[in-house]
Amino acid sequence: MESGQKAVTFKIGLLGYGTVGTGTAEIILDPSGRNSLLKEIEIAKVGVRSLDKPRSPELPVGILTTDLESIVTDPEISIVVELLGGLEPSRSLILKAIANGKNIVTANKAVIARHGEEIYNAANDAGVYVLLEAAVGGGIPVIKPLKQSLGVNRIQTVIGIINGTTNYILTQMTEEGADFGEVLTEAQKLGYAEADPTADVDGYDAADKIAILAAIAFGGRIKRDDIPCEGIRKINATDISYADDLGFVIKLLAIAKANENNDSLQVRVHPTLVSKEHPLANVNGVNNAVLVEGDPLGQVMLFGPGAGKGATASAVVSDIVNIVGILLTNNTNE
Ligand SMILES: NC(=O)c1ccc[n+]([C@@H]2O[C@H](COP(=O)([O-])OP(=O)(O)OC[C@H]3O[C@@H](n4cnc5c(N)ncnc54)[C@H](OP(=O)(O)O)[C@@H]3O)[C@@H](O)[C@H]2O)c1
Repeated sequence: MESGQKAVTFKIGLLGYGTVGTGTAEIILDPSGRNSLLKEIEIAKVGVRSLDKPRSPELPVGILTTDLESIVTDPEISIVVELLGGLEPSRSLILKAIANGKNIVTANKAVIARHGEEIYNAANDAGVYVLLEAAVGGGIPVIKPLKQSLGVNRIQTVIGIINGTTNYILTQMTEEGADFGEVLTEAQKLGYAEADPTADVDGYDAADKIAILAAIAFGGRIKRDDIPCEGIRKINATDISYADDLGFVIKLLAIAKANENNDSLQVRVHPTLVSKEHPLANVNGVNNAVLVEGDPLGQVMLFGPGAGKGATASAVVSDIVNIVGILLTNNTNE
């Protein structure tokens, strides 16, 4: 190969070109100084809702399409990257892609928390990978460490601050002595909270994520609908001030905890008094953290940006590169 020539080996299809989709393209289209396998990846097709929106980074003519089925059935595409969000058509497209032999990368916690079993069973039958590092903790590597680096430990607890919006709101309420409603309005203006903040402030997003983490850390399947879930709407400035006087901060924690015999598991999401000495007490703003306690390891805390274009895309592209690495190894061994 001549120097500077791009060795394109793997074609990928992106479903979605919003915040995370464009972040993903930015990394893939600018491989210099990054993992050398990025040079083996070509974005072949990108599925969106509208062809009329201005897009950045711009894509060559013919790549953008509203026909998402044509991506998941394209024989040239080996990895489908689902960055649409929501349950449908994400679930159906992921299943169709798997049925067509595609490996999957997704950032979609909602679809994995509710339909993970169906998706993993289909992937096992088809012999393809489903990677989802970006679905929990945005840019923080947490899925792979739980599966691999921490996998030999007997896990006792996984406790997460895994929703940036609620952590931002609680942090602002603590620092400004402000009430929930006014901080939520400010967070919406700054783009830290959605126009419809329900999934975040009522704890549903955190419940999706702890369902995924608990299934990985403790094995087996967690029924998402069985997770008791209380959000932060009822927390007011007085609660936070009392907590402060007593040496605590209030955090929305997602908790998965095994009993002493390791034969039953509690999984729940609720606002919690956290001692100011506890490592999670100082996780502020939109940051996320996951504290894992295991035997014989003790405590490990993974901390960092839990959302955002670049951080989330970092996790997505790492998953793509991991799959490319495996496919290349398999090709070499054949
Ligand atoms: N944003 C974050 O910081 C973050 C962090 C972690 C995980 N995630 C997850 O990443 C995923 C994507 O999030 P995002 O923030 O990138 O979303 P987004 O900005 O709203 O982008 C969604 C993209 O999907 C396309 N789309 C959605 N529904 C579609 C449909 N039915 N048919 C065709 N195209 C459709 C949209 O097309 P148009 O462009 O034409 O509208 C858009 O390009 C979600 O699962 C989210 O939970 C996001």
